[in-house]
Amino acid sequence: MPVINQIIHQIQVSGIRRFDEAVSPIPDIIKLTLGEPDLPTPAHIKKAAIQAIRDDCSHYSPLMGFQRLQVAASQYFNQKYGLTYAPSEIIATVGATEAVATALLTCLNPGDGVLLPTPNYASYQPVVAMAQAHLITVDTTSAGYKLTPAQLVATIAAHKNDHLKAIILNYPTNPTGITYTKAELAALVTVIRSANLLVISDEIYSELTYEQPHTALATLYPEKTITINGLSKSHAMTGWRLGFIMAPLALINEMKKTHQYLVTSTSSISQMAGIDALTNGLDDGAKMRDIYQARRDYLISRLSEIGLNYCYPTGAFYVFAQVPADFTGNSWAFATQLAQQAHVAVIPGSAFGPAGEGWFRISYAASMTALRTSMNRLAIWRSQVPIKTED
Ligand SMILES: Cc1ncc(COP(=O)(O)O)c(C=O)c1O
Repeated sequence: MPVINQIIHQIQVSGIRRFDEAVSPIPDIIKLTLGEPDLPTPAHIKKAAIQAIRDDCSHYSPLMGFQRLQVAASQYFNQKYGLTYAPSEIIATVGATEAVATALLTCLNPGDGVLLPTPNYASYQPVVAMAQAHLITVDTTSAGYKLTPAQLVATIAAHKNDHLKAIILNYPTNPTGITYTKAELAALVTVIRSANLLVISDEIYSELTYEQPHTALATLYPEKTITINGLSKSHAMTGWRLGFIMAPLALINEMKKTHQYLVTSTSSISQMAGIDALTNGLDDGAKMRDIYQARRDYLISRLSEIGLNYCYPTGAFYVFAQVPADFTGNSWAFATQLAQQAHVAVIPGSAFGPAGEGWFRISYAASMTALRTSMNRLAIWRSQVPIKTED
C-alpha cells in the first residue's frame, strides 16, 4: 500500500522555488526571482510587534483573529477600495497562501471545474488538485495577458458539461504585472454573474498599481466573491504570515472550519503588528509603490534599450519579458544560461504554466543597484550570445 497520498505525490514544488534553489549557489548571482519585497517592514509595525511580545501576547487568538484586527481590516479595506465587509466577515489567515487554500478547500467538491486565466501564479493548481476538482485554464497571451469577456463566454460554452463552479482571478497579476480597469472588470462580471460562478479574487498586489486605481471585484460582485488580500506585499511583511479572507457570512462560517483544522489561527504577535499596519500604516503601501514605480520605469527603459520585448506592467512588481527570438531553446534553458553565464537570475515563464513558455519573469522587488548591475550584465550577455543568421 503506498504510504503517500497519490495526489500529493504527483504535486511538485513550484518551478519558481526549484529554479531559485538551482541558481542560488552561483557566486555573485543577482536574484530577480522571488516575489519578496526587499524593503523593510515599516518601523512603527515592528514596534507594535515588540510591544506585543513584551505584553505577553503569546497565546492563541480567537479562530478568526483578534476582533480588533477584524475591525481594523474592515475599516482599512473600506477606506482603500470601498469594500463593505463587516468585521465578522473577515478571517485573519496565515498569509494569502492559506487564504487561497482555505477558500478552495471549503468550496470545491470532487469533479468541480475551476476556471483560471493563465499564465498564472503557481499556488492555485495544487490546491484545486487536492480538492479533486479540475482546472480549466484560459490562455490570455493573445489579448495582452488580459482575460476578455469573449474568451470567458467561449470557455464557459465549451465546458458546459464540466460542472463549472468557480473562477480564480488574480490582479494585479503575477507573473505578467497587468491589471484590469473597472470597466474591464464590470464586463467580466456580467459574464461571471450570468454563469453564476463563484469568484476567488486574489488581490494581494492591490496596493501596487501604477497609473490607475485598484478596483476590488467584490464592489462589483459582492454576492459571490471571496476576496483574498494581506499584508505581505503592501507592508513588506511576507515573513509575518498575515493575510485575509473576506466573504459573505454564510461562506465565512464554512471557511472558518477549514481554517481551524488547518492552522487554528495565525500568529498573535503578527496580528498585533497587523492592527498597527492597518490603522497607522495606511500610506505605507503608497510609499513603497512610488519606489517600485521608479524601478519599473528604469527596468522597462533598459529592456527596450537592450531590445527585449515585454508586457507593459501596470501593477505588482514584475516585468514579463520575451525570450529573444534568436535564442534557440525554451524559457528554462534561457534563464539557466542567463544565470550561469551572466549571473542574473530570473524565473522561466514555464513556471507559470505552458502559456508562459517563451517568456521570463523579472522581479523588481530588488534594489536599484541590483537592477542596474543586472541590466548591465544582461546587455553585455545579449551582445555576446550568438545571433541566429537567416539562410
Ligand atoms: C498572486 C499571489 N498570491 C498569493 C501570494 C502569497 O502571499 P502570502 O505571502 O501572503 O502568502 C503571492 C506571493 O507571491 C502571489 O504572488
